[in-house]
Amino acid sequence: MIPADPSFDEVYPESSRGTQGDKGVRVITLDNPPVNALSFAYCAKLYETIEAAHADDSVEAIVFSGANGLFSGGADVNDFNSELPAGAVTIRDVIRAVELSIKPHIAAIDGVCLGGGLELALACDYRIATPRSKLGLPEIRLGLLPGAGGTQRLPRLIGARAGLEFMLKGSAVPAARVLELGILDELVEGDVVERAISLAKEIPPKRRISALEATIAPDVPMQAAPFVVAQAHKMVPPEENGGFAAHKLIDAVQAAVELPFAFGIAREARLFDELVRSKASLALRHLFFAERELDKIPPVILPFDSAQGRLAQDDTESVQPLTVGNAGVVGAGTMGSGIAITFAQSGTPVVIVDTNEEAVDKARQTVMGMFMYQVQKGRLTQEEAWQRGQSITFTDDWSELADADLVVEAVFEDLDVKREVFAKLDAIVKPEGLLASNTSTLDIDAMAAATKRPDKVLGLHFFVPANIMPLLEIVRGRATSAQTLATAFAIGKTLKKKAVLSGNAFGFIGNRMIFDYMREAFGLAEEGTAPARVDAVMKAFGFPMGPFAMSDLSGLDIGLHVQKLQGKSGQGRTNVLEQLVEQKRLGQKSMAGFFKYDKAVGKGREPIADPVVEQLFAQEARKAGIAPRVVTDREIRERLLYALINRGAYLLEEAVALRTGDIDIVFVYGYGFPPHRGGPMWYADEVGIARVYERIREFEAAFGPQWKPSALLTRVAESGGTFAASSCFDKLSMTPGGGVASGA
Ligand code: 3HC
Repeated sequence: MIPADPSFDEVYPESSRGTQGDKGVRVITLDNPPVNALSFAYCAKLYETIEAAHADDSVEAIVFSGANGLFSGGADVNDFNSELPAGAVTIRDVIRAVELSIKPHIAAIDGVCLGGGLELALACDYRIATPRSKLGLPEIRLGLLPGAGGTQRLPRLIGARAGLEFMLKGSAVPAARVLELGILDELVEGDVVERAISLAKEIPPKRRISALEATIAPDVPMQAAPFVVAQAHKMVPPEENGGFAAHKLIDAVQAAVELPFAFGIAREARLFDELVRSKASLALRHLFFAERELDKIPPVILPFDSAQGRLAQDDTESVQPLTVGNAGVVGAGTMGSGIAITFAQSGTPVVIVDTNEEAVDKARQTVMGMFMYQVQKGRLTQEEAWQRGQSITFTDDWSELADADLVVEAVFEDLDVKREVFAKLDAIVKPEGLLASNTSTLDIDAMAAATKRPDKVLGLHFFVPANIMPLLEIVRGRATSAQTLATAFAIGKTLKKKAVLSGNAFGFIGNRMIFDYMREAFGLAEEGTAPARVDAVMKAFGFPMGPFAMSDLSGLDIGLHVQKLQGKSGQGRTNVLEQLVEQKRLGQKSMAGFFKYDKAVGKGREPIADPVVEQLFAQEARKAGIAPRVVTDREIRERLLYALINRGAYLLEEAVALRTGDIDIVFVYGYGFPPHRGGPMWYADEVGIARVYERIREFEAAFGPQWKPSALLTRVAESGGTFAASSCFDKLSMTPGGGVASGA
């Protein structure tokens, strides 16, 4: 807890403001690799350095800068997982030392300046930055609020409305825009530290934000500030459904509007401490770290080396990724076009090829239409749109792929067709080029076998629409080399995707799990629960749409095709899916699927319950001898979510997924699992594995062997443990072939 603030006059007595003249300037460089995080340990050092500068009479001004190519990534998120150690020095203490000093402080920012780093800068008298810098208060993305004065200083500096917008978005904003907002005082083209030193010699004393409280909210009239706050509460999600931190943040800004600075700071600290312990923040912090684990591939999971009879011991960290300077895409349908746009957006020239001239023309129109739409929306300038357009070559001439560093095929989901494409590509593309399949289900090894370069073959499973969805599954075939994988992760970064490694198994991670989720949704509908009710329950849980609306969006024909590939005749125990497809109810695209759609309702995207489908389910269920049941909302949730969890555990066990965090990332970024619940595996821990296991056993007894609990789930439940503590891949003693050594 921070002590109560002294009064303004105590802090800034007129007499002690000092005089101008030649000043000795002390540059304090934040240097705590990799991101200059302001951990307790680092803050203790920083505090000492600052206090030494304050005590040194030869130092008349202080400049903060950052090493390691950035200013600071903010407070150390790891510190939030433990109780504040007695005597720990926090970023708040550092800021307080700055505030209590009568010497001027300047933040000289070059690179990223986030969270507590920006809050430190806000406590300085001046903030200057290079144009490449990006500044932000991203705490909301971790389910927190800026807890080191940000909620109090920012509204005082730029107003309640602009401050709220900046903090509720939590983006890292380019310096030029931050200057416009009034957070920065100057953009510096050259050496920002040099400029800060010369500025220190000329600036007037003290220009602290805590002193500006009388002028708060310049963006709206003072009397309108409470209205802005009230409106903000209405615009964020409800507290219980992902909006907890947002409401607390707005409360903190309300304190900035209504209370003197010292009281506002105390309110902010109390709200921050509440959020740090909240379930939502724990879940979001889990996702933050899970995301940073994604490309860490323990050597033990690399392909089994049959010649040596053990797992190959090379690892992706020790190999250099290949440079992908240009790419190719085969297949000019929706998926192929989306992938081509993604490459173009990242500045990678791309050739898109299709045998069908008509498809090539259509793709050209779709892609150009998309760029023009972005211009209309103000997301791209004409110039940028033109450049992107220029970086895509549309052709029906496959030989244009000869020099591609990477080719992604996105043709029809059929193994024979894909194998043909791979054989053709193998003959055309230069030997060092990588060949990837965008299949969502099929066997990568079978495609690799059609080439003479199986080590350079992999899966790159983009999600529709590829240029928008942030997820990418990287599928490792049996022969995929470590360098190919390392290159795939590098591509993932270039394309700004969350890239998750998956083993080569039907449906990979996401789709494999979603099959089980859909199985239960179908099962419920067959037992008499209306699809609209199933969807409503999952929306209330936090999904943007329920399973039936999701099926309608991806296309019922696609769903049926995938089911058939898997060797099933359809979904569930009846043939309702097949019948709907036969009736040309293909989903949103045909304005009817499990639901009806009407152009006048939600632009044709709003599902409307259709009694015809409910009757069809009832009729087919009767024929199949499925007795109707009345189920609770809780059972609906449990059946769908526990199906995901059990399958996720199987995938870990079978070495298809590497870590529980990887599965969580797949579901949050690929399927709309509510981030504040951390993903299915995190959620399982939160519910309690023993409880999940117990329900799964009950479902097994009631519904059959599809509910058999995985060995991993059983083991964790019996040991009273959690997935987080026990399922990291390298702790599982994986054996070749994907089994888990018993007793590990
Ligand atoms: N705390 C702890 N570790 C952090 C961190 C932080 N704030 N920011 C980054 N890291 C770690 C990452 O976990 C990663 O560790 P690893 O190498 O062991 O995996 C390493 O730093 C490098 O991170 P990235 O891989 O993300 O590196 P990038 O260069 O791609 O991105 C970044 C750097 C833009 C700083 C990005 O890491 C980021 O956005 N960090 C989080 C920023 C943030 O949310 N700050 C707010 C913190 S909360 C706060 O300040 C509270 C305050 O109000 C009191």
